[in-house]
Amino acid sequence: MPQKIIILDFGSQTTQLIARRVREMDTFCEILPYNKFPHDDPSVIGVILSGSPFSVYDAEAFSIDLQHIRGRYPILGICYGAQFMAHTYGGKVEPAGSREYGRACLTHIDATNPLFAGFDVRSQVWMSHGDTITALPSHFKRIASTEKVENAAYQAEGEPLWGVQFHPEVFHSTQGSLLLRNFVIGICGSRQEWSAASFVDSTVAQLKAQLGDDRVILGLSGGVDSSVAAVLLNKAIGSRLTCIFVDHGMLRKDEAADVLRDYESLGLNVKAVDASEKFFSDLAGVTDPEQKRKIIGRDFVEVFNAEAQKVEGAKWLAQGTIYPDCIESLNITGKVIKSHHNVGGLPEKMHLSLCEPLRWLFKDEVRRVGRQLGMPEHLITRHPFPGPGLAVRILGEVTPERVRILQEADHIYIQGLRHYKITLPATEARQRLSAGHPATLQESGEVSVSLYDLVWQAGTILLAEVRSVGVMGDERTYEHPVALRAVTSTDAMTADWAHLPYDFMAKVSNDIINHVRGVNRVCYDISSKPPSTIEWE
Ligand code: XMP
Repeated sequence: MPQKIIILDFGSQTTQLIARRVREMDTFCEILPYNKFPHDDPSVIGVILSGSPFSVYDAEAFSIDLQHIRGRYPILGICYGAQFMAHTYGGKVEPAGSREYGRACLTHIDATNPLFAGFDVRSQVWMSHGDTITALPSHFKRIASTEKVENAAYQAEGEPLWGVQFHPEVFHSTQGSLLLRNFVIGICGSRQEWSAASFVDSTVAQLKAQLGDDRVILGLSGGVDSSVAAVLLNKAIGSRLTCIFVDHGMLRKDEAADVLRDYESLGLNVKAVDASEKFFSDLAGVTDPEQKRKIIGRDFVEVFNAEAQKVEGAKWLAQGTIYPDCIESLNITGKVIKSHHNVGGLPEKMHLSLCEPLRWLFKDEVRRVGRQLGMPEHLITRHPFPGPGLAVRILGEVTPERVRILQEADHIYIQGLRHYKITLPATEARQRLSAGHPATLQESGEVSVSLYDLVWQAGTILLAEVRSVGVMGDERTYEHPVALRAVTSTDAMTADWAHLPYDFMAKVSNDIINHVRGVNRVCYDISSKPPSTIEWE
């Protein structure tokens, strides 16, 4: 069992980021709700307490008894985690004179403290808090301050217990990764054994033991997650894995044929079902986004189920569920923003046991595992694509003709992103590309990178119910606009619009309007998430 760090989640938006930083140090970690510490797990080597939207004085604030954790494991409290421990052990936490968000500079650090090993004085840190620790418990010592925050970091004297008021996990804390490294490796003693190779070896062995001679069914979507899950299972159980690929007719241009060719070359046993007629006929006349999603979800289950029945003796349903899909995050608001259908739904109806070999991995890690398994790079770096496909990128009724128009426009855009290269210093490429991307392997100098690889996700949206006037040659046109969307993100929870070069946008716009009949205007979506979402529906 690999060593692990436990991150107790008090509801902060950046809890997942802490986990990603720890994993980047080749160390396994788990996010658990603040009150679910695994007391019997011998592989735990350290504990991190996350931030929280609450103040320690709020009636609903989350609280935990640290009695059996303190002294047994090194602890690092971040923001609320630090305030909570200071408050619990007799210090004073008070509302800050002014709420502090954004950059701050460390003005003092105790450079001899192991948490700050190798730190520069005046390192930039990122603050986001309404309360501040005005007095430390008597046996705690201050180890860092900023101009406004006297107790920016502390340690309980003679004990492996630290608190930091700032957020080392966010990119803007310039030495935040170093601080976490000092904690995870220097203090907790991580042996850094968590790697793609070790994951593949141990998972294949586990799958063999778990599945024995059973038959397994897996739904392939063409996306990275289900493809990597399939190749991993194929390595473990070979032909006892049957993959089902449902083509609902709303994939990207030529995508169904392309991915099937890839799957064949990977030696996967795939059954492809073209169910596009059924999907189009059930979607006829439907314009409401949630209604569309429900119909597609229902039809998918129906078609998939019918195909799965044909696989005799299947006992397992494998899914490419990844960690962000299943972290039991503290849902403070309890509101559903959009219904997603990639988790749950299928197994209950099918009486199959669930097998999710990627459920501990972040997207970047899935990609690394894919590379480890020798999968082609274009399959590994493929952008995420929503299950309901282009149906949620056509605003209005979905018809085969509208899908065709959108496929053509989108193809020009995506091919353009793939072909447009920019040159970056290797250090910047490492920051902007997903971990393990071939261009990140170069230590210094410059690398050439495509816009496609620099963005998290891109796609085209057809405003099918809107028409505007244009002029082409001597003719007046009255056709649809398309919107181009490209975002940068690390996990799709938050996203920013990508700042694509103007010359690129000019060319794509020109190519789309000149080549795609039915489109006479191209817009670029400059909304971030939140408040918008990545998909339009
Ligand atoms: P939103 O639009 O919620 O999307 O910001 C976040 C990420 O999820 C993808 N997405 C889906 N993926 N089934 C999926 O498998 C769905 O129904 C679905 N809806 C959105 C979206 O493309 C983005 O990557």
